[in-house]
Amino acid sequence: MKMFVKSVLCATVLATVATPTMAEDFAYKDQIEARQGYFQVVKFNMGILGEMAKGKRDYDADLAQAIANNLKNAGTMDNSLMWPKGSDMDAEGLSGHTKAKAAIWQADSEIGEKFGDFAAATETMAANAGQGLDALRDAIGPLGKSCKSCHTDYRAK
Ligand code: HEC
Repeated sequence: MKMFVKSVLCATVLATVATPTMAEDFAYKDQIEARQGYFQVVKFNMGILGEMAKGKRDYDADLAQAIANNLKNAGTMDNSLMWPKGSDMDAEGLSGHTKAKAAIWQADSEIGEKFGDFAAATETMAANAGQGLDALRDAIGPLGKSCKSCHTDYRAK
């Protein structure tokens, strides 16, 4: 009996703990998670170059080149399927799941140009990163600006 009570209690506790963390379904979940994951990968790579630029990590030409190539490849990805219309933060049920502003999908949206600026900045970085710390530093400012420029207009704080 004691055993039984214990296991029932256990099950109740588990159920209580499990509920809030249970995978929640929302519209365009796969697409939203994919684009957020994409940007996490971009951020991770950018962070390594940033550390080198700031002298927090030793400059290593081969590593810098490999990481810059990752970013350049990210800049060539066709991510259009990750951005379906209606997957913005104001869409029903999506608040808290995405920070993508509805302006991305408006007729006058410049998101394509902004992505193009980012892609161009990754190309410059790939040309510079293996050529010495100064060359890497020259390229990191414009690359960082390309992120910020898009976030200012199209990502909520
Ligand atoms: C063309 C526009 C654009 C560019 C360029 C861009 N971002 Fe973003 N970024 C976004 C948008 C929009 C979101 C919000 C996505 C969402 O929540 O659905 C985002 C989200 C993110 C996130 C949060 C991901 C998450 O887990 O929710 C990170 C980190 C990020 N970007 C980093 C970067 C970095 C670093 C760069 C530049 C090297 C960059 N982004 C360039 C538009 C852009």
